[in-house]
Amino acid sequence: MDKQLDQILKSFESAIKGAKTAPQLEELRVEFLGRKSGKLTNILKGLKDLSADEKKTIGKKANEVRQFIESALSASSSTQSTIIPHTDLSIPGIAPQSGHLHPRTLAINDLVDVFTSMGFMVYEGPELENDYYNFEALNFPESHPARDIQDTFFVKNAVSRKEKRELDSKKWLLRTQTSPMQVRLMEEFEPPLRAIVPGRTFRNEATDASHEHTFTQLEGLVVDVDISVGQLTWTLKEIFRQFYKQDVEVRLRPGYFPFVEPGYEIDMSCVFCERDGSYCKICKGTTWVEMGGSGMVHQNVFVAAGYERGTYTGFAFGMGPDRLAMLKYGIEDIRLLGENDLRFLEQF
Ligand code: FA5
Repeated sequence: MDKQLDQILKSFESAIKGAKTAPQLEELRVEFLGRKSGKLTNILKGLKDLSADEKKTIGKKANEVRQFIESALSASSSTQSTIIPHTDLSIPGIAPQSGHLHPRTLAINDLVDVFTSMGFMVYEGPELENDYYNFEALNFPESHPARDIQDTFFVKNAVSRKEKRELDSKKWLLRTQTSPMQVRLMEEFEPPLRAIVPGRTFRNEATDASHEHTFTQLEGLVVDVDISVGQLTWTLKEIFRQFYKQDVEVRLRPGYFPFVEPGYEIDMSCVFCERDGSYCKICKGTTWVEMGGSGMVHQNVFVAAGYERGTYTGFAFGMGPDRLAMLKYGIEDIRLLGENDLRFLEQF
């Protein structure tokens, strides 16, 4: 029996080297440890016929062989299970979804970068504005027809908000322009003053491809002594050059805004065509693109802000970052900016 155990051990050792798969290992287990006729099981069954001394020595050895076979089989099967359902590290992973900036924000960020590099401060103002700052202080008297230019969302309820000056609590509105910040800034600071104010503005008007009821404006204000129209033109030209990354011409056409005198419409040379008069869907062959309004700050506005008449000069301008973004990114309908359609937004 002693020899038989040696043979069983030997034959198991050589058999397990060739067993690679789970079924082969199971076959081995049955061959050696199977309950009915496993080779080792047969030996163990015969132990009862041995003398007490033989039982001690052979029994001990048979148990050692059984333990060896069992642990060899379980070690091999655990290696099998870690290898079979293996992970293919070359399969591309699932990219995590990441957010990105809205084209309107991209345009405003670019403009802010250009202006701050030129020494402008950046401010935001209240979207809920009082008639005083939106109209009256900007030289629109109560009955002035210019108030009709901007269809306004008036606020029905009285608003009381802590403000520097006393304001009529019944005359609140959604600001129609960022220009009210001209007066708020001048009330806060003494010249020299160089600031921009990007922000949302609201007008109660019918929408189309280039008009929205909610859109953005960027106000610019420079106040000092001896400020000239030449400086206004140069500043606008430099801003557009850096924003569109190419040289441009700027043309000022007479325009009326009650808070500037003289007032100008700003045109920029079309950067989207050859400017040879042939059809261009941006400038319609005119070679110029309208960019906003501007002018020299009216002395009445300085007085409303608390400066002495005739002490300072300054220029102001207002442009539409939404329209600037549309030109930059080739967006044909301004309404796309507010619709939150991912098919559109994911292109930026
Ligand atoms: C104004 O609002 C003046 N506050 C601009 C100004 C500032 C003049 C300082 C002088 C001195 P205007 O109404 O033209 O001007 O609007 C300025 C820009 O806002 C337009 O050129 C356009 O880019 C944008 N804008 C105006 N209305 C809309 C609208 N409904 N939808 C989208 N953009 C608009």
